[in-house]
Order: sequence, then C-alpha cells, then structure tokens
Amino acid sequence: MYSLVIHGGAGDLSKKAIKELTEKTGITDLEKRYETALKECCELGEKVLKNNGSAKDAVLQCISFMENNYLFNAGKGSSANCKKKFRLEASIMNGKDGSYGACALINKVKNPIKLAEKIMSSKKVAKFIGGSHATYKLAKEYDLETVSPRYFRSKYRTKLNNINKHHNYGTVGAVALDTFGNIVAGTSTGGLFEKEKGRIGDTAIPNISTFADNKIGGISLTGKGEYIIKKAIAYDIIARMKYKNISMEKAIKEILPQLEKNNVGIIGIDAKTGKTSMNFNTKRMFRGNIENSKSLNNRKKQNIPNIAIW
Ligand code: GLY
Repeated sequence: MYSLVIHGGAGDLSKKAIKELTEKTGITDLEKRYETALKECCELGEKVLKNNGSAKDAVLQCISFMENNYLFNAGKGSSANCKKKFRLEASIMNGKDGSYGACALINKVKNPIKLAEKIMSSKKVAKFIGGSHATYKLAKEYDLETVSPRYFRSKYRTKLNNINKHHNYGTVGAVALDTFGNIVAGTSTGGLFEKEKGRIGDTAIPNISTFADNKIGGISLTGKGEYIIKKAIAYDIIARMKYKNISMEKAIKEILPQLEKNNVGIIGIDAKTGKTSMNFNTKRMFRGNIENSKSLNNRKKQNIPNIAIW
C-alpha cells in the first residue's frame, strides 16, 4: 500500500479567477499549466513510491518540483515581503521517529525543503535554523544549490500580486506513505505577499503546519499563517485522531466548520487506511492525490483516476 497527496496552495484562484487572470496577464492556458504541473508532480511521487522508494524521497521530489515551478508561491515563484525582498521557509517531519527539520528567512537557497531535510537528518542539535546568512552557510556545507536572491523574482508572481494580492496563496506541500509504512510530510512557501520584515509563518513550524507519525498520519497545511499558528491546526487534527480514536476524515470534518472561512487548506494521509484527505475553506486548493491500497478500490467504483488533480 502507498499513497501520496500534494497541494499547491489554498486561496481564491477559482477556475473563474484563473480565466480572468489569463485575460489580464496574457498568459495563456493557466488552468492547464496548473493541471499539468500538479499531474507531473504526482507522477514523480508515484514513481518513487511504486518502486518501493521512501516517503521522504517522494516528498522531497514533489516539493522540489513545485519549488522550481514559477506557478507556486514557493521557491522560484515566491512572493516578496514589504521590502520587496524574498524570505522563504520550509519544514519536514518523518513519521518513523518524529524527527523534523525547519528553516526560515531564506533568500539564497534554491530548494528550502532540501535544506529542511538536511537539518532533520543531521546529527546536529539545532533543528530550526533561520536567517539569510545562516541558511546560506548551511546549504553550502550540505552541498545544496544556492542562488542569487534575484532568482526568486518571477514575472508571473509579480503580475499576480499586482492584480490581486490575495491570489498569492500558493504554499506547496506533500504527504507520502511508502510501502514500508513510513509517512513523511513537508511544506514550503515564499510566505504572504508584503509580509512584515522578519515575519516567519506557519510553514516553518513543525506540528503546526507539518506533521507526521507512522501510527497516526501525516498532514501539510496551507493558508493564512498567523491563523494556522493560533489554532495549531495540524496537531489539533492529530490529537483528535489519537485521543478519540477517529479517522483523519472525521477529525477534519469536526474541525473545519469551526475555522474561520477563507483561511485554510489541509492535506493528509490516515496511517491506518492510507486514505488521503484534501479539505479547504477557501475558494480552491490546488491539489492531487494517489491511493494504492486494497481498501481503496472504491476509487475505481467512483471512477476516480489513479492520479487525480483538482
Ligand atoms: N501559509 C503561508 C504563510 O502564511 O506564510
């Protein structure tokens, strides 16, 4: 059994909004571009999982792929802060032992998720590293690709934010369950457009937006950082599952109506069944999933393709 679920951010980029955007920016086939990117991303992850690769590899490949794509507000397509500077962040958690790595205020590391993974896997004590210089130095130490801050400036994100700054949600995340029963979750973002200098959001904070436990499940969040931190949403879902012995689907159903509208997107995998969840209270969340388990043959009955994109 394996499963994978990805998000490319929750927000108000409905199909109608994308159509308008196409007219205003002159960028054609935007809807198709998102669809293709999400599908390619799922295919990358599935290739890893199908060949008995690790959940960690699947998450790293999926998130790096989205970080390298200007369509998403992470890596290449990041939004700038109020000083027109880029400050990216990411976190990852391994459900096998609860280990995590997190990094924030990045402006020279091409793939923040790879740095988060190196921090997680290293023997060093510090697991949450922030700051332009510290993260750059660490990336060099781990032989990760570094870039000039200019790399993160994309025409698409600038156009998008000029038209409507609320379109800028676009955090990316992935949760994978591999054939060995390991769950890994990761999240990466450029952060809110025009965010305050020095601001760190939810994406960098394990247990808040990124969570994994092989016995319970894995989660990645997208949405308004300050609200997600205030509500400790990832851990709230996990705690409900743990203490009430309920499924992830049920836990999310309980919590979502209690959350303020237009704030949150959630993806996750329930460890017991391998079932993926994808819920949001914004207009849309770019998302895709793959489920491969006996108990999920329902998917076929419901005519849902192996890799489904929304
Ligand atoms: N969830 C992304 C952010 O608030 O920065």
